[in-house]
Amino acid sequence: MAERPYIVGNWKMNGSRTTLSEARAIDRGAQRTMKVEVALAPPYTLIHAVSREAGQIGVGAQDCHPGEEGAHTGDIAASMIADSGAKFVILGHSERRQDHAEQAELINAKIASALEAGLRIILCCGETLETRDAGQAEQFVLDQLRASLPKIDDAGERLSVAYEPIWAIGTGRTATTKDIAAMHKAIRGLIDETYGPDQSPDVRILYGGSVKPENAGEILATEEVGGALVGGASLTAESFLGIVVAA
Ligand code: G3P
Repeated sequence: MAERPYIVGNWKMNGSRTTLSEARAIDRGAQRTMKVEVALAPPYTLIHAVSREAGQIGVGAQDCHPGEEGAHTGDIAASMIADSGAKFVILGHSERRQDHAEQAELINAKIASALEAGLRIILCCGETLETRDAGQAEQFVLDQLRASLPKIDDAGERLSVAYEPIWAIGTGRTATTKDIAAMHKAIRGLIDETYGPDQSPDVRILYGGSVKPENAGEILATEEVGGALVGGASLTAESFLGIVVAA
């Protein structure tokens, strides 16, 4: 497995120029610990500004258009995201799958466009509570990944996977470490099968869904958890760095 845990803050549709101070404080805090890779994905409106502040942290985007620049009002091309200083993009987040009816075909086009633009990818997956209660969580998540894991030979450098049970996002309820370990083990098996022994160990599998400073230590110590994708707790330096130091 990659040597450093990857702790990524997904600011979602939050943040303004007044919260740049939080990004600055997160960057300063991240400089104190080289044992963790820290990154932020602010809204598009702040990517350039956060990139300018970032010394230690990586900066990314939360989505991208599935094609090249051109006549697509309101969209942002992956090449424009890279031009603004971002180094990665989160794709397939459940909120995009739900709010924008994103299916694998569209997500895969976005993945291809982001890779073409030189961006790293964090590919999200996760089940609903109904699917979990029906005992079909693992099958559902592996089907999601089988439909979208990119066929590349440098997955170790370009790809991370984020397992985010939908019922744990923003609810304060995290999956048990037993459930996290079982799902991450299943995902690792698919990554091994897809990318082979040279690349697979460096593809980090992040957990997301109500990660907080008080539960991060236990979650990050769970087998096959290579980091965290953090929503609400990434909005302030105090809580986000509380997770970083727990890694
Ligand atoms: O992408 C991370 C996000 O979905 C998790 O959100 O607020 O439960 O940490 P939150």
